[in-house]
Amino acid sequence: MIATSIKYKPAGQFEDTRFEKIHNVIVSNSNEGSICVAEEIADLIKSKQAQNKLCILGLATGSSPIKVYEELVRMHREEGLSFSNVVTFNLDEYYPMEINSVHSYYYFMHQHLFNHIDINPENINIPSGTVTQEELHQYCIDYDLKIKDYGGLDFQLLGIGRTGHIGFNEPGSHYNSGTRSITLDHITRVDAAPSFLGIDNVPKKAITMGIGTVKKAKRIVLLAWGHNKASVIKETIEGEVNSEVPATYLQDHSNTTFLINDEASHELTRIKTPWLVGPCIWTEELASKAIVWLCQLTNTSILKLTDKDYNNNGMSNLLAQEGSAYDLNIKMFNKLQHTITGWPGGKPNADDTSRPERAEPNKKKVIIFSPHPDDDVISMGGTFDRLVEQGHEVHVAYQTSGNIAVSDHEALKFAEVLKDINSNDPNIDAIIDNINSKKEDIEDHIDVRKLKGLIRKRESLAATRFVGVPDENIHFLNMPFYETGTVKKNAIGQEDIDIVASLIAHIKPHQIFAAGDLADPHGTHKVCLDAIFAALENLKHHDYMNDCWVWLYRGAWHEWDIHQIEMAVPMSPDQVLKKRKAIFYHQSQKDGVMFQGNDTREFWVRAEERNTETAKRYHALGLSDYAALEAFKRYHF
Ligand code: F6R
Repeated sequence: MIATSIKYKPAGQFEDTRFEKIHNVIVSNSNEGSICVAEEIADLIKSKQAQNKLCILGLATGSSPIKVYEELVRMHREEGLSFSNVVTFNLDEYYPMEINSVHSYYYFMHQHLFNHIDINPENINIPSGTVTQEELHQYCIDYDLKIKDYGGLDFQLLGIGRTGHIGFNEPGSHYNSGTRSITLDHITRVDAAPSFLGIDNVPKKAITMGIGTVKKAKRIVLLAWGHNKASVIKETIEGEVNSEVPATYLQDHSNTTFLINDEASHELTRIKTPWLVGPCIWTEELASKAIVWLCQLTNTSILKLTDKDYNNNGMSNLLAQEGSAYDLNIKMFNKLQHTITGWPGGKPNADDTSRPERAEPNKKKVIIFSPHPDDDVISMGGTFDRLVEQGHEVHVAYQTSGNIAVSDHEALKFAEVLKDINSNDPNIDAIIDNINSKKEDIEDHIDVRKLKGLIRKRESLAATRFVGVPDENIHFLNMPFYETGTVKKNAIGQEDIDIVASLIAHIKPHQIFAAGDLADPHGTHKVCLDAIFAALENLKHHDYMNDCWVWLYRGAWHEWDIHQIEMAVPMSPDQVLKKRKAIFYHQSQKDGVMFQGNDTREFWVRAEERNTETAKRYHALGLSDYAALEAFKRYHF
């Protein structure tokens, strides 16, 4: 049987799916996909109700299913969807783990779903992180037996880890495994580290439903959102079944659908190199992408590509459409050449027909939006410097306080300096006491958060003064969605949007630079970008917005693909060093920062390596040899 829901087009019928071994549907955004899944679950619950039957659901935690639960709760509240016939089995739980810990999956499920619906509490099954070692083996057997007694899972919701785990079935898991305890993979613990405020606090073990148990479900839907899932999604959908990527076992399940968003589908052959799959509609963007790919494949620069290179690599119809390799090569070379400019604010009095920015007005008002207080210099320090040097009125807007990323020992250092200066202030004593007595997992006292935010504010001002921007052009927006005191942030609110919109309305900029990181669908950068997009939408009817161009840079994690770049700003070796110094002013984010991610390089090293890599890529394509390049893509609103 193949996927039955009309929402999901059966694989093979509409798309050319050569290479793909699991039915998958790509959605443009995770919200839209989540709503489809919630509807499928709701339909199942209702059809079981109509037959007077129980509906047995297997549920997942993590960031991927949050919106599905939100939608189910909405349907319960607004449409009367009842869960009275629903029995749930969760996939996993950390071990050991107290149920009332904020890190427990028990807590997660109640917070996101169970507390808000009419499910009978006795019908909720979540592996218990409190069973003793002695009880554990039998407990796991009983968990499987209980699922079996209910006649198996009607529907299993899954996420996927970067290790290829489903549930916590880490690499090496057997295709027939049952519910059991398991040692978590290092990568899984790294991914969980931010919410535990450090990897040392992440449990090393978990209890997980087995692959065998999951595979017996009658219907499986796996969700994957974001760039960081792209490579595991490719391995799972296109690779051979193997225990090193346990999710590949789902290839043998006859009613599984993967629901993935654009970013997570990025590495699939049909998305990444569709010309290898079948005939393509050659848009300009696709042709650029293919030519860059062809140069990498053949280790050749653009102007040296031949008809044979195009014909041998799935691009003969592009060649036929455009004439000859010669024409195609020249067109692509010029396109890339025209992205390069040392004048990111436009070159005064120059012909700007093939430059990325307008010449007029020759002194522009610019806002650089920086989600955290350091993304400006990390991601576009060289361009920032040029804009200031070239006389534009540059403003920087730090969208969040970034307080959560300042470690306690850093805050203590500053609090103690304050104490040395003013030993009689009881508030300073209270801050020092709070830091010293802070328990793991407990959020900072409001005054400690304030101190941490001020540390980042002063670091930012040191950096912007170094670049030459007057303090009155620096705006600390302290967007409220961020101020939860924990890693988990609130959803974007009207107040966040209004703060951004009123700054834009006040400055009336000709250029906006913003962090275009879409990698993490629930991360701070994404929320900050959404707030800017929403503000632009609200303001777009004003005349001054006709003169406003928006450029997106990428944050500390990824770079634009070469074919996406619309402005590339070169840096000399001296400018690279100046950028490095500007990043160094953010001392609290240096030398082993709290939110390092899975990349152990310091931020300044990442930034430099990324900018040098972009320059090398341009050079390999036959363009000039620069020390480093910063890259931007224009956003049209
Ligand atoms: C959670 C679970 C895990 C997650 C996976 C992805 O119950 O079993 O397999 O689904 O680690 O996590 P997110 O969705 O946070 O990326």
